[in-house]
Amino acid sequence: METLQRTLAIVKPDAVAKGAAGDIIATIEQNGFRIIGLKMLHLKKAQAAAFYAVHVGKPFFDSLSAFMTSGPVVVLALEKANAIADWRKLMGATNPANAEAGTIRKKHAESIERNAVHGSDAEDTARFELSFFFSGYELAK
Ligand code: CMP
Repeated sequence: METLQRTLAIVKPDAVAKGAAGDIIATIEQNGFRIIGLKMLHLKKAQAAAFYAVHVGKPFFDSLSAFMTSGPVVVLALEKANAIADWRKLMGATNPANAEAGTIRKKHAESIERNAVHGSDAEDTARFELSFFFSGYELAK
């Protein structure tokens, strides 16, 4: 039996604003992920900065913080075997110019910044990111 893994997904403000959240959530379900937590939030600057602390000092950091606070996001806790890598594969490359056909970013992303979705990149970041948005009691059993 494969071990289940959890990851965090965010539907970013660009995708929520254009009404693509439903399509993205349906795609997540159709690809075998179990949604064990889901909420819509409008992040404050300090929250976006804390979430993306690993990118502090990078040239795109201020713009990224402004973008991520520009409108509501949908955050999801996802579970399946190999969830972290599988969600990153389904999202597609960070830069939509490099995203493969059939990926969410190929379909919905506008630019390397306005790239529709986020996903944790490793087990330690998934733990941090899941606990950033969800308390244990909020996740489905
Ligand atoms: P995400 O996977 O959420 O991780 C960091 C985010 O920074 C990334 O998606 C993009 O939205 C944004 N970003 C903007 N410019 C860049 C860049 N040059 N390289 C990587 N990420 C970028």
